Amino acid sequence: MPQNVDFSFIRYANGWEDTELLLNNLKPKAGDKILSIAAAGDNSLAFLAFNPEIVIAFDISEPQLYLTELKQQAIKILDYQDLLAFLGIIKTNHLEKLFQQIKPNLSNACLHYFTEHFYLIQNGLIHQGKFENYFKLFRTYVLPLIHNQARINQLFEPKSEGKQIEFYNNEWNTWRWRCLFKLFFSKYLLGKLGRDPEFFNENKLHVSQTIFKAAEKHLCSSLVFNNHYLDFQLRGNFTVNLPYYLIEDNYVKIKANIDKLILKKGYLTDVKLPYKFELANLSNIFEYMDEKLFTIQVIHLSQIMNENSKLASWNLFVPRKIEQQNPEFYSLKIEGNDLCFFYNSFNLNQFKV
Ligand SMILES: C[S@@+](CC[C@H](N)C(=O)[O-])C[C@H]1O[C@@H](n2cnc3c(N)ncnc32)[C@H](O)[C@@H]1O
Repeated sequence: MPQNVDFSFIRYANGWEDTELLLNNLKPKAGDKILSIAAAGDNSLAFLAFNPEIVIAFDISEPQLYLTELKQQAIKILDYQDLLAFLGIIKTNHLEKLFQQIKPNLSNACLHYFTEHFYLIQNGLIHQGKFENYFKLFRTYVLPLIHNQARINQLFEPKSEGKQIEFYNNEWNTWRWRCLFKLFFSKYLLGKLGRDPEFFNENKLHVSQTIFKAAEKHLCSSLVFNNHYLDFQLRGNFTVNLPYYLIEDNYVKIKANIDKLILKKGYLTDVKLPYKFELANLSNIFEYMDEKLFTIQVIHLSQIMNENSKLASWNLFVPRKIEQQNPEFYSLKIEGNDLCFFYNSFNLNQFKV
């Protein structure tokens, strides 16, 4: 595990792992016991829409758990429009009043954190992670040197895939785009300003080339038009679509099950019985560790996952395949596309003893 990483602030204010891809492949159902990395809470909350028995969301980062708790209690207390306003998606002059409404439901530690860091709420909660700030730097200082707003909007305008490829080749893929993109999304700047240099300890790929190729493939596809992740990155808010947990129908279902989300601080190996899980969302935690530690995680998974359970995980730059550690975790075929196109792979496994 990275030894010198600072986990004392919010790194991710949104989930940057495609919720629909996760749900369409794990296929949660009523009564499931689900294990999930907390991160910003988005994907852990999304599972609640399926009426599970319980969702245990764990994370080594306290601020990420506080953020997840705040979103959980905001969903519980606030009506839909107030929730969107509280999170910074739509404008309001009532943030203090909304926070007052939520406060009695927060744990002491979470209350203390957000009272001390109230500016995070004031400045729009979903814009406040280090990762979101990295995209804000790109949007504010780099992208305007490449394309004007009209051209950025054109990228999202629905058209045939042929026209999108034409647009990319003739309008978008300028030398400025190639040079500035590769500079900004280099291992150095992504490590320093977006993630953490230590998150690349296990990486052997050329970071900027890899992201550039992935971006190029995605921008030439019709997936762009409804991609709310890309919309947020390039235009600074969710304007084409909302994240799954904030779509009104899903919000209603999640609210009905909101107390089934339990938050725990710790590593995967700290997650102990009495529960055995039917589903697990493991984000891309395995690429932060060396092979030896990865082996230990897979052994632990074989002890806490139920027969026929399914597990989802991502690889950004480092290949970590659970089935290569233990063939009892069969690799399954993936359904659908990853709107978070920058990942190298989405992995789906089924545990069959
Ligand atoms: C794995 S990160 C991934 C974020 C994004 N996909 C990226 O690669 O930059 C998501 C969350 O996992 C947490 N995390 C990382 N390693 C972990 C581990 N071994 N056990 C528990 N949580 C972990 C982090 O604190 C963070 O909130």
